[in-house]
Formats: sequence, structure tokens, C-alpha cells
Amino acid sequence: MSDQSTPTADHSTFYTPSAEVMSRARVQNWEALKAESDADPMGFWAARANELGWYQKWDTVLDDSNKPFFKWFVGGKTNIVHNAIDRHQSTHRKNKLAYIWEGEDGSQRFVSFAELNTEVSKFANVLKSLGVKKGDRVTIYMGRVVELPIAMLACAKLGAIHSVVYGGFSTEALKGRILDSQSTVLITCDGANVSGKRIELKAICDGAIDAESPIKTMVVYKRTGHDVPMVEGRDFWWHDLMKNASPKCETEVMDAEDPMFILYTSGSTGKPKALVHTHGGYSVYTYTTFRYVFDIQDEDRYWCAADPGWITGHSYIVYAPLMNGATSIIYEGGPSYPAPDRWWNIVAKYGVTILYTAPTAIRGLMRFGADWPAKHDLSSLRLLGSVGEPINPEAWRWFYENIGGSRCPIMDTWWQTETGGFMITPMPVVPLKPGSGTRPFFTLKAEIVDENGEAVAPETEGYLTILGPWPGMARTIYGDSARYAQTYWSRFPGRYFTGDSARMDKDGYYWIIGRVDDVLKVSGYRFGTAEIESALVSHPAVAEAAVIGLPHEVRGNAIYGYVLLRQGHNDSPELREELRAHVAKLVGPIAKPEKVTIVDRLPKTRSGKIMRRLLKAREQGLPEGDISTLEE
Ligand code: WT7
Repeated sequence: MSDQSTPTADHSTFYTPSAEVMSRARVQNWEALKAESDADPMGFWAARANELGWYQKWDTVLDDSNKPFFKWFVGGKTNIVHNAIDRHQSTHRKNKLAYIWEGEDGSQRFVSFAELNTEVSKFANVLKSLGVKKGDRVTIYMGRVVELPIAMLACAKLGAIHSVVYGGFSTEALKGRILDSQSTVLITCDGANVSGKRIELKAICDGAIDAESPIKTMVVYKRTGHDVPMVEGRDFWWHDLMKNASPKCETEVMDAEDPMFILYTSGSTGKPKALVHTHGGYSVYTYTTFRYVFDIQDEDRYWCAADPGWITGHSYIVYAPLMNGATSIIYEGGPSYPAPDRWWNIVAKYGVTILYTAPTAIRGLMRFGADWPAKHDLSSLRLLGSVGEPINPEAWRWFYENIGGSRCPIMDTWWQTETGGFMITPMPVVPLKPGSGTRPFFTLKAEIVDENGEAVAPETEGYLTILGPWPGMARTIYGDSARYAQTYWSRFPGRYFTGDSARMDKDGYYWIIGRVDDVLKVSGYRFGTAEIESALVSHPAVAEAAVIGLPHEVRGNAIYGYVLLRQGHNDSPELREELRAHVAKLVGPIAKPEKVTIVDRLPKTRSGKIMRRLLKAREQGLPEGDISTLEE
């Protein structure tokens, strides 16, 4: 059943964190707190929620009367910005750095919590002046600049719902997400600097707005400074609007269950789906998981090298670090620009203590060899983190030894856009096994089941499910609650279905194997095969297309496309190249297929379903397996 390569798992060797790491950890007795929290989840979450500020406390921790539409902290009034920014203004953290930013060109910015408050308040006033109100959707499509979190926080402050579209996506992806969310305002940059190249963000936005677009206003932050056409009456420069904006803005009082943001992710159909996260439960969950897993302390310098445009960035670059009053690093550019030690240079320069990244990045940097990190003093590091896909033991060990100096435990955090925060994750005192996310977070219970929803024995592969709700869970799919219930809660009634396969070993450690739906993880990015297929089919030469993922050394998976041409079109290397470029242009450069093959027919079942499994076996030269359902 598994779709992806399985790391050669060593289920017996434990890596025990050093005495130094263990002695300073916030959670000392993991086993005891796990048992206690599992026995009283509501008590645990109420206590965590009490660590945050509320305009009004909740009446009920959990309302589960309308499953699977759970409500948390019902009756509570808050705003995530109250906890992320406002509360710090009356403490020593006011003058502490919230963000240290480094541009790819080496420029730097240091933004304190007080300055962040000013910028966010000003931009919230700008949005207000553009007519943005509580509940309105705002699409944000920017490079990795500090203004990206500022724009997100400004929306949240007003109670507007942000929809960040990752800056690596292209026109079609952006257009679909704008339409679905019915955003009236789009915030972007003129361009972004990545790996020595300029990404034409403004031009992509222009391409995504047509006559049917709900976008009325575009705000453009000047980053690259190159000439971009501005449409009179529609497009405005960020700096022009900010010039006279007042630095005073009240934070909107929100219901705990009010939507805070939506974030699109790929599923099994081509239509984008936006997961809805809230002000209350999401705050409590991300604040808590970050605090315990990365053991954040005031003197830390924390760097999550992901993009703020993904859930990792929303939860663990923007909201959780700010709620914890942490100092974060944001780096604009590519990891090996201008040389393969750019990241190690940043770690040494700013004294980074916690580095959170993805296996694909580690494998990419590993290729350049250990001499590059060895040139830098990385002794400030005390914890490492990994997310996005299973980490193969080779990459784990390289990261552990060459970056962490064999001192720093790796927090391999398994979670999803849908879960809001870490679900299966170590903590600094938990003994590690390379490639395993260890065990479920406090109050959570995971179970691996077979087709019929029966729990399977240890060491047996099955479907990963989560029992019971948690505060950070997505509440629904924006505009489509039936799809939410169907996708996540119907396959195994009463349980949340993750879409992943996994196995649990005899020590109760979980090993994620990969997606079992039509979702591909490429360099940690999530794509639906349907999304890529519809991009291929939109090319005039293509009649039909099928897409699969195959193992790739650096990217985890690579995309392979198979297309059937329309009459009058013939196979040629140029056409295949054109089709690859077409996908990159419509969806984004990371979605560019590794290879496109022109075929005479696609293997289908008698009911017309493409047998991707068969394409996969053929491409890899493996046995074809059961082909009794194949038409012909
Ligand atoms: C899928 C979710 C959560 C932030 C980034 C990804 C895979 C994620 C791990 C991990 C093995 C992982 C799963 C999951 N995944 N983290 N530590 N070990 N697999 O969010 O784009 O929503 O993707 O990423 O397959 O279902 P996402």
C-alpha cells in the first residue's frame, strides 16, 4: 500500500540526548506528563490556555456535540495578535528582537517586538483604509521579507482572514486560490531574490488577475526595485500607503472559534482546498507544542528555515515563536547561494541555537560535503528539527554529526497543514531513533489500522489515524464542510485519517512511510497528482495525462508525467521539454516534472481509473503485480 520509499529503519538503536540538553529541558519527566495529560486532556489544555492572555475566559474547553466539527475554548474571547505582540509591549520583551532578517544580498534588519507592533498596527490601518474588515479574506503572495509576517499579523489584528500563497507557486495556482477565497485585496512584492535569480512576483500576480477576479486592490512591497507596471487605481506601493498610516490600532476582540487564517493545500482532486484555523485553539496548540518541543527560552535564537507561506512558517516562524516571545531568524534566499555554506555562515553569525529544517534541504546541503559546515563555528546550536517528509537515517546522521556536533538532538516533528502543529514528535528528553518522530504529543493517541479500521500489531504497516480532537486541528475546509468531513473523518469513522501510512515498533515509536492518497511530497512540498495532471492537460497538445512520484535522492520524490497527445501532435524532445516548462509556469518551478513520457495509451481499470501503480512499476522495471482490473 505504501506509495513512497521507506527509509531503511533501524528500530533498535536509541540516541540519548546529552546530560546538558536534558538538564535544562522544560519537560523533565516526559513519561509522567504524557500519562497525566492523556488521563485528563481537558485539564491539560485548560492549564496551557491559562498561560496565554484572553479578553474573556472560555466556558467550555471542548464542545464535541457536533462531530467532526469540534469547538475549543467555547465562549472565550481573544486574538492571536494579543498574545503574539500586544502582551509583550508591557514587558522586557518590548525591546527584544522578534526578527533578525538577512537578505540574500547580505543586507540585514533587526526588528524588535516594539517595532513589530508599530509596523503591524500601521499596516492594519492601511488595510482598514482599503476597506478590509473582520471576516474578509486577504491573499498574501510575497517573498521571504519581514513584511510577510507583518501583513499576516495585520490581517489577524483586524480579524480579517489571511490566505498566504507560497511565493514559489505560479499564476494558475495563485488564481485558483484567489477565486476560491474571494479575496478582495492581494499583497505582494515587486520581486524576490532566490539563488541569484529574480522571481517576478508582481508579474505573476498581474497574470493571475483577470476580469473575473475578485481582487480590487493590490499592495506592492518594493524589494528588488526593478521596474514593474502599476495599474492606476488598483495597484499601490506599500511604502506610499504606510507613509501616513497611524501607528495606533486596536486589536479586534475575536471569538476563540473565529477563523484566523485559511491555508490551501493539495489533496486528491485538482480543486484547491483551504484548511481553516482559528484564533483560540490554534494559539493554544502552537504556543504549547513549540514551547515544549523546542524548549524555547528567552536567550534562544531560533531559525526555522522554511517559508512563512507554508503551515510550518505560519505556526513556527510567525505565531508560536512570537507568542513565546522568541527571537527568530528569517533568511530571504537560497541555501547554497553564493556558496554551499550560506546557512552555516548564518548559524555562526547570529549564534543560532535551534535550527528547524526539512530533510530535502539537509540532503541537498549534504551533497556538498562536510567541509562546508566545518569551516564555521556551529557550537551555538543546541537543538535541531526536521519536518516535511520522512528523514532517511543517512541524512539524520549527517545532520546530527556535522551540524549538531553530535550534541544536539533532532526533533523530527510529524504533522500536517490540517493539524496546525506538531503531532508525533520527540522532546529534548526523549531518546531518539533516527527516522522516527517517536511518540504522540501530550494528550494525543495515534493508532495504525488496517482497511477495516482494526488496529494492527506492532511492526505492521497500516493507515495512520488519530483518535480524538486537539485544539490546533483545522475546523473545516473553507466553503466545503462536507468535503472536510468526508476527507478526514469518514474513512475510519470517529477517527481523523491522516492520509499517511506508518508503522509502530515494539517500543511504541512511530515510523512514517508516506502518503497513501494521490498526494506527492516533492522536496517537502505537497502536490496533488490531479493538480499537475490538469496543468499538463491545459496544454493544447495534450489529450490526457497521468502523474506519479518516484523516489529521488535529494527531493524525496520526483514527478513523472505520462501524456497522450491530441491528434496532429507528435512526440519530440522539444515537445516533452515544453510540457515540463508548461507545468513549471502554471503550478510553480518545484512542480516541474523530472520527465514527461509520451504514451499511446494510459493503463486504466475497467471503470476508467488510471492505474498509477502500474505506471510506477513499469518506470522502475518492477513486477507489475495484480493487473486483473486492467481494461483491454
Ligand atoms: C505531510 C503533510 C507539517 C509541515 C510541513 C508539511 C509528511 C510531514 C513529516 C515527518 C515524515 C512527514 C506527511 C504528512 N510529513 N512531516 N516529520 N516525517 N513525514 O505539511 O504540506 O501539510 O504535509 O508531510 O506525509 O502527511 P504538509
